[in-house]
Amino acid sequence: MSTTKRILITGGAGFIGSHLTRHFVKKYPSYQIVNADALTYAGNLANLADIEDAGNYNFVKADINDEEVIRSLFATHGITDILHCAAESHVDRSILDPLQFVKTNVLGTVNLLNVARAHWQEDLAAHRFYHISTDEVYGELGDEGYFVETTPYDPRSPYAASKASSDHFVRAYHHTFGMPVVISNCSNNYGPYQFPEKLIPLMIHNIVAEKPLPVYGKGENVRDWLFVEEHVEAIDIIFHRGQEGETYNIGGNNEWKNIDVVTTLCDLVDAALGRPAGSAREHITFVKDRAGHDHRYAIDAGKIKRDLGWEPRKSFEEGLKETVDWYLSHQEWVQEVMTGEYRNYYRKQYELR
Ligand code: NAD
Ligand code: TYD
Repeated sequence: MSTTKRILITGGAGFIGSHLTRHFVKKYPSYQIVNADALTYAGNLANLADIEDAGNYNFVKADINDEEVIRSLFATHGITDILHCAAESHVDRSILDPLQFVKTNVLGTVNLLNVARAHWQEDLAAHRFYHISTDEVYGELGDEGYFVETTPYDPRSPYAASKASSDHFVRAYHHTFGMPVVISNCSNNYGPYQFPEKLIPLMIHNIVAEKPLPVYGKGENVRDWLFVEEHVEAIDIIFHRGQEGETYNIGGNNEWKNIDVVTTLCDLVDAALGRPAGSAREHITFVKDRAGHDHRYAIDAGKIKRDLGWEPRKSFEEGLKETVDWYLSHQEWVQEVMTGEYRNYYRKQYELR
């Protein structure tokens, strides 16, 4: 990798991308960071208000599918490395509109690979193309077992299929063209700035508003939750020290049934708002299950611990409390992101049930 880094972060205005961008801008003042984001419903520049004037940070509104724009961005900024985060990221949306997931996650990734390859061809080995991916590519687990890096891909939702496909393209460019890639597959993230369509922020929002809390099926599906800033630390370590061509699984060692996450949030928000104990739980509503709902995800994060010394440290109790406090003190942010297109989507989803 080159020593003077000019890093393109795609999707830097989204949930994980904004934490990643802030982390790199603040921790590495000698790096130039270019955030390219199309600002879809999920992208919001307010997520980065605290760093927008930093001398080593630039924002460019750009679609990763726009070859001309990405090419000129590479040329103008002399991009040396990519942290590719931009994606359509919500499983429920992928059930409503799979093609959009192919366009952004598959075609967008291949477009970035093509532009990077053309731009870096003189000395490919001096660069790094990091694809930020998900454990959902491995499919679902029963009550036992864990995903390891060699678990065969078995994506089951259109979202997972699109991410699996983009992972395959990234690896294919490594094998065929010598593209200097690295991939990480992470479990479910939570924390500040997550769009309130995902389980945890959606529930916090609905509890505050005293709305129904829609738990899919019986609420017995299991997810492995990781605080977003710990994911970002793992990405930082893999970016700098991970082996080219390798894959690293990142997880929280923190499996929870959805219903237990929801009841915990109910109690945390009730306590924070001084409401009588148990009042939020009354709004829990079991709704029709998600189509093809994966039963359980769980990561074996042994490789990254052994090879790079990373492991999750924050307890779920502490992380959830921090997250609840953040949402309660950022109600304006919540109102802002939940206007417009999102509301229409939400209404449509309910009509389908
Ligand atoms: P997000 O939906 O919050 O943000 C996605 C960002 O990408 C938004 O800012 C959006 O504007 C941008 N974007 C979408 N289409 C674009 C396009 N065509 N061109 C440029 N920008 C575009 O997503 P997230 O939850 O932050 O996830 C980020 C990445 O991490 C994704 O690749 C996702 O697959 C992966 N991931 C997420 C999780 C999770 O729990 N959220 C877990 C593991 C991996
Ligand atoms: P989500 O946050 O959408 O992440 P993913 O589907 O990528 O794991 O959902 C997490 C879990 O919560 C998943 O099992 C689906 C469930 N869920 C609900 O029960 N109700 C909801 O309103 C949402 C959004 C999710």
